[in-house]
Amino acid sequence: MKIAVFASGNGSNFEAIVEAVRDGKVEAEIALLVCDRPEAYVLKRAERLGISSITLQPKAFESKIAYETEVLDHLQAESIELIVLAGCMRIVGATLLKAYPKRIVNIHPSLLPLYPGRQGIEDAFNDGATETGVTVHLVDEGIDTGPVLAQRKVAIHQGDAIELLEGKIHALEHELFPEVIQTYIKKLKS
Ligand code: GAR
Repeated sequence: MKIAVFASGNGSNFEAIVEAVRDGKVEAEIALLVCDRPEAYVLKRAERLGISSITLQPKAFESKIAYETEVLDHLQAESIELIVLAGCMRIVGATLLKAYPKRIVNIHPSLLPLYPGRQGIEDAFNDGATETGVTVHLVDEGIDTGPVLAQRKVAIHQGDAIELLEGKIHALEHELFPEVIQTYIKKLKS
C-alpha cells in the first residue's frame, strides 16, 4: 500500500509512521510527504529519513481546485493509494475527496466532535475539560468530521500544565496512529 503523508508543521506523527513502517508494524510504503509550508520542520525530518517530499503553497495557485489538481498529479504519478493527514492544517477539498473516497485518514488531538479546528489541545485545556484525547477518522468535506476509526481518552487533572497534556497527547498519537493505519490498510485489502 503506497501512502502519502500530508503535514504542515513539526512532523512528529510523520516520523512515528515512518518508523512504524520500518519496524514492520505498518505494511505500507511511505512514498511521499506533501507539505504546504516551506519552513515546516517536517521537511527536515523527511530529508533525514530519506522520504521524498514536495512543497506546494496554495497561495501560488489561482484556486483550491488548481492547487489540489497539482497535488493529485503528484499522487497519481506515485500511484498513491492512501492519504494520511498528520498535522495537515488545511481543509481537504472536493478534488482530492473525489479522487480518494474513504482513503483519506486524519488524526486530531481531541475527542471529536469536541474541540475541532487548529487548537484542539488548547481548547480543551482552556475550557476546563477533565478529559480529552485523540481521534483518528476518515476525512469528509467538514473540518475534523467524518467517520471515527478510533478514539482514546486522556485525563486532565487539576493543576496539570498544558505542556504535560501536550506531551501525553502526542505520545498517545504516536502509538495510536500507526496502529489504526495498519488496521485500516488490512480492511482496505480484505
Ligand atoms: C497533532 O497533534 C495532530 O493531532 C494535530 O496537529 C498535530 C501535529 O503534530 N492535527 C490537528 O490539529 C488537525 N486539526 P506533528 O506535526 O508533530 O505531527
